Amino acid sequence: LKDFSVAHAKTSDLKSLVEVLESTGWFDGRIDTSEQNIKIAEKTLKKLLSDPRTLFLVVRDKQEAVGFISVHFVPYLMLSGEEAFVSELFVKDTHRSKGIGSMLLTAGVQAARSRGCKRMHLINSRARDSYKRGFYAKHGWQERQYAASFILDLYDKTREPEPGK
Ligand SMILES: CC(C)(COP(=O)(O)OP(=O)(O)OC[C@H]1O[C@@H](n2cnc3c(N)ncnc32)[C@H](O)[C@@H]1OP(=O)(O)O)[C@@H](O)C(=O)NCCC(=O)NCCS
Repeated sequence: LKDFSVAHAKTSDLKSLVEVLESTGWFDGRIDTSEQNIKIAEKTLKKLLSDPRTLFLVVRDKQEAVGFISVHFVPYLMLSGEEAFVSELFVKDTHRSKGIGSMLLTAGVQAARSRGCKRMHLINSRARDSYKRGFYAKHGWQERQYAASFILDLYDKTREPEPGK
């Protein structure tokens, strides 16, 4: 672990970040690596890197990003402050169980604390190994029993194909 450190992501990390996502083997083919989709991913990464309310960190092995975390600072009237939302935390399959995920999560928590955030939030599917192995619970996170997680799928199937379709 001494060889690894957390750094801010750069646009040049794009290719290796896509490889991290591909290594999960999830998303039912939703990781579309066509040229068109890589262009969209590039735009998204640029948006994330230039957004003052987003922190996007990576751990690199030599030049290659092998893990990343994306944290969004969301102002809440109700909290009289910000909630820090972790939208993505992934470590490449070849680099798991080396402490990299913990390193990224800890860096996200530290950043939220020093920004004065009131709370952190993330969504972890109960079907995932990370949930079954209690990754977040071991890091002191509490599972909310009283809250349900809702989504509204906004892919307009009449106008644009879903990624991977
Ligand atoms: C969950 C994840 C981010 C943890 O990163 P990591 O670098 O492997 O984790 P660390 O080495 O810091 O900590 C080890 C812990 O991570 C979790 N972990 C390790 N390998 C894992 C794997 N293949 N799948 C899921 N969780 C794993 C376990 O909780 C493990 O603790 P344990 O050995 O006591 O069970 C990483 O394994 C991963 O990207 N998994 C797939 C994606 C995922 O589930 N993301 C969660 C948010 S959607």
